[in-house]
Amino acid sequence: MELLEEHHAEELFGVVDANRAYLRQWLPWLDTNRCAEDTRTFIRTSLQQFSVHNGFACALRDHGRLVGALGLHKIDWPNRATSIGYWVTERAQGRGLVTRACAVLLDHVFGELGLNRAEIACATGNQRSCAIAERLGFTREGLRRDAEWLYDHYVDLVIYSVLASEWRARRAQESRT
Ligand SMILES: CC(C)(COP(=O)(O)OP(=O)(O)OC[C@H]1O[C@@H](n2cnc3c(N)ncnc32)[C@H](O)[C@@H]1OP(=O)(O)O)[C@@H](O)C(=O)NCCC(=O)NCCS
Repeated sequence: MELLEEHHAEELFGVVDANRAYLRQWLPWLDTNRCAEDTRTFIRTSLQQFSVHNGFACALRDHGRLVGALGLHKIDWPNRATSIGYWVTERAQGRGLVTRACAVLLDHVFGELGLNRAEIACATGNQRSCAIAERLGFTREGLRRDAEWLYDHYVDLVIYSVLASEWRARRAQESRT
């Protein structure tokens, strides 16, 4: 994982463009990401967020090849809470790359950042995304109805969360086994 910077714009756009139809099924931003300049704008916004400690976006690499991205949408500092977003290319699915990257991200969220709560929101039909939250031991809290507009229809979002104490207990358990 590495922080996305402006010099990644062409490379990131190429990967997004090659996976457009697949990503568009569950992510709402594909139609506003049409050229490398749009990707550059997204990266600039993410860097601005990073500079004010309000989230960030990282590139996910597999053997040097950019295969996805993940990060924190924003940080609710008064409540010490954040939410995680991610995507990976169609070809890189099924190997646990995102689950493992999220675990590293959660170590950072509850370690260096000292937050108390992390959330993952998945559309009800997005089973692969729900499976990541469940694999990481998140608790399913409930449903936000019609919470996301996906181009031509609303989707319900399942809200999953994990607390710092739960994550630490899980990591301690993992290190014992
Ligand atoms: C959601 C998304 C990231 C899930 O990708 P994924 O590859 O299924 O997730 P992971 O990288 O965690 O891999 C899990 C798979 O790897 C397998 N795996 C292999 N080794 C593993 C390991 N060490 N740890 C965990 N899983 C492992 C799991 O069994 C699982 O495969 P399965 O679904 O066939 O059972 C991907 O489908 C995607 O980007 N979709 C489009 C965008 C999107 O929906 N983003 C999320 C919006 S909320």
